[in-house]
Amino acid sequence: MSGFCIAVNACKSEQQIRYEQFVISGKNLYENHCANCHGKNGEGLRNLYPALTSSSKLGETAYLTCLIQNGSTGKEVNMPANPALYAIDIAQVITYLNDRWGEKKITETEEVAKVKC
Ligand code: HEC
Repeated sequence: MSGFCIAVNACKSEQQIRYEQFVISGKNLYENHCANCHGKNGEGLRNLYPALTSSSKLGETAYLTCLIQNGSTGKEVNMPANPALYAIDIAQVITYLNDRWGEKKITETEEVAKVKC
């Protein structure tokens, strides 16, 4: 593709484009499946739903994968499971969370797919 670039600034690496695609899809998924509780800007809701802006869990792919897949029970307030999300969806959501509040790096579908919950 680089042959089509005219100005250097217009040239994004395929990796960069893929990253941005993950962030955009992840944003959609977040707004549909997560924002109700955690807030559009990750601010959370009082003591009910934790803020994600300062979560220490954002780098923990395995933990996040299982939490998003299976939800959490056993606390006063639970997080619901997301049985309809595929590994790629979860990878995109995690990439989005990190783009906004963590480390700007892609979480690959393969990393999510190999997690055993
Ligand atoms: C019905 C409300 C609800 C929805 C929807 C929801 N969560 Fe949660 N989430 C919670 C609750 C409650 C907790 C705390 C549960 C716990 O710690 O066991 C939590 C915990 C978390 C944590 C851990 C925060 C920390 O620092 O410990 C992350 C990350 C998270 N949710 C991400 C998501 C993502 C991503 C989605 C969408 C796929 C989502 N949540 C959807 C209620 C929700």
